[in-house]
Amino acid sequence: MTDHFSTKLVHGHGYYDEELGHFIPPIFMGIICEHPDRETGQPRKTGRGTELKYAREENITVEALENAIAGIEEAADALAYASGMGAISSLLFSMLRSGSRIVIPMEGYATTVRLVEDLTKFGVDVSEVWPDTRDILEALSKPADIVFLETMTNPTLKMFDVREIAKASKESGAKLLVDNTFVTPYLYKPLRDGAFAVVHSATKYIAGHNDVLAGVTAFSDTKSIIKAWEWRRRLGSTLSAHSAYMVLRGLKTLEVRVERESRTALAIAEFLDDHPKISNVYYPGLNGNPYKVLADKILEKKLYGAVVSFEVKDGKEEAVDMLRRIKIIKPSPSLGGTESLLTYPAMSSAASISREIREKLGITDGLLRLSVGLEDEQDLIEDLDEALK
Ligand SMILES: Cc1ncc(COP(=O)(O)O)c(C=O)c1O
Repeated sequence: MTDHFSTKLVHGHGYYDEELGHFIPPIFMGIICEHPDRETGQPRKTGRGTELKYAREENITVEALENAIAGIEEAADALAYASGMGAISSLLFSMLRSGSRIVIPMEGYATTVRLVEDLTKFGVDVSEVWPDTRDILEALSKPADIVFLETMTNPTLKMFDVREIAKASKESGAKLLVDNTFVTPYLYKPLRDGAFAVVHSATKYIAGHNDVLAGVTAFSDTKSIIKAWEWRRRLGSTLSAHSAYMVLRGLKTLEVRVERESRTALAIAEFLDDHPKISNVYYPGLNGNPYKVLADKILEKKLYGAVVSFEVKDGKEEAVDMLRRIKIIKPSPSLGGTESLLTYPAMSSAASISREIREKLGITDGLLRLSVGLEDEQDLIEDLDEALK
């Protein structure tokens, strides 16, 4: 019974207080508990066997969220962090050493790409490649330690053949890390295709309400988690109990939110594709999109996520004007929440990329990124139509 995705979203935290009958995890705000337990003289232990004594290491509310994430990602175990970047940086610090080689596409969440570039100062060999499966496979002809991918790139939604890359990574001795933030475990589970670990900015769809900052990592084996756990403790990037509760609360509706938002996103992508003021629409669910065949192979539900990027014909002026004119949709960074948001990548996330590379990637001055929320489909289309007039 508990094997189905939607049931795991609601009950997968596994929390149950036998004494009081509570089955919804409370927020354990205390950062300490008795250590050792006065009755047994032994430390209390978590499900993973670590000691329960101090909240930077372990907390029952956070553990409940980690159980739920491990369940939905079909992982051996999971860890929760103070933000998506907390998850990514802690994971990389736990896995890399001086002389390690990491392969990463040049299009992705810019803060992640800049973090990886800066790891060269610790002696890490960084191979930044064109965001294409073939280029990653070619980079793997030389030994590597880590390949870091986003299932769909930010902001032009390029996709990769994760299965092929996971196979090639294993052959070259590398571990594949997948940032699955844009796609969510409802639409795709990278561990099934051979990824070593999956990370999320849980700030986005996992929590889903634009009101909490969090990150999670799900691991394919329990052994590796101990090292990652140790680095989370050292870096202090652990999620707070209050935030864990907020994420757990949002997580229960992940499936219904992503299902509805993805359907609205497809309708909006089709509307924009026919609009005379739009020169390009980037959405892997659109017929004619270069990633449609790959998307159909990877995203078995035939839902393509709820981010749509598009390019207005008149470039910067029109793009900035649109940000001023939209009403229901808010001009704001981030994605994956109940409110629809419109972002201008050339001035925000992609501002750190040189203009030449940015334009080659399709991140032109006219590009806008829309994160579709839970508002009415027709209202959103009218809002966009009015803003484009
Ligand atoms: C794909 C992706 N990964 C990671 C992050 C970082 O997450 P956070 O903002 O929760 O630190 C973001 C943030 O936008 C993102 O879009």
